Amino acid sequence: MSTNAGLFSSSLGKKYLMAITGLFLCSFLIIHFLGNIALFTNPVQFNEYTRFMSSNPIIRVMEIVLVLGFLTHIIDAIILTRANKKAQPVKYAMNKNKSSWYSRNMGLTGTIILVFLILHLQSFWYEYKFGEVLMTVDSNGNEIKDMFTIVKTAFSEWWYSAIYILAMILLGSHLNHGFQSAFQSVGLRHKKYTPTIKMLGAGFSISITIGFISFPIYFFIIQL
Ligand code: HEM
Repeated sequence: MSTNAGLFSSSLGKKYLMAITGLFLCSFLIIHFLGNIALFTNPVQFNEYTRFMSSNPIIRVMEIVLVLGFLTHIIDAIILTRANKKAQPVKYAMNKNKSSWYSRNMGLTGTIILVFLILHLQSFWYEYKFGEVLMTVDSNGNEIKDMFTIVKTAFSEWWYSAIYILAMILLGSHLNHGFQSAFQSVGLRHKKYTPTIKMLGAGFSISITIGFISFPIYFFIIQL
């Protein structure tokens, strides 16, 4: 009988783990996007939301889970890619001739997303926690850090917004293949369901890309 450790150290187990962490990260993207919508509607509300996210104890625990999710996903990807390149006992990358650009470039798009993430965390997350942030007032008149202005200022640089837009397009490509691949890895591979899963994956990745790109574009337009 295989133990959990045994399962996750096998190639199949690693594919499972990739799939589960990938789908978990997809759910984070939805929540992150919904939270950011306040950027369009109400700076005070956005600042209050950011304060809530950085101070609520449950969210703090979720942040640790998120970091572990990212790390597991990345480390697993590296291990699986190496294993495939070696004796290729498990075909993760599929047939080269039949495979799409998205599937063949998961490593490339994943790496660029990681570089984007480091830049993103540095300019928003780190800046908010450790930088010299302007203060403003919340809806009760209390002092609060002005995250809205940090975001607005960052996106007032055209090159910064351009990096975001490019990264979001590559994120879309990564999600487009990752989404359907995750469902296949957890065993949902069936003539009847696969086309629907592919369509859902395409819809999800396009929505996430357009959704996140809309923030830099919005700030660019309002500052013209
Ligand atoms: C234009 C699009 C985006 C905007 C405006 C944005 C904005 C922000 C802001 C303001 C923060 C810090 C405050 C907070 O926690 O809410 C943050 C944190 C974070 N963002 Fe983004 N984000 C964008 C896209 C993304 C994407 C595409 C990813 C993942 C690939 C991502 C991953 C993260 C992570 C991991 C954190 C730190 C965790 C957290 O504090 O919730 N963000 N983002």
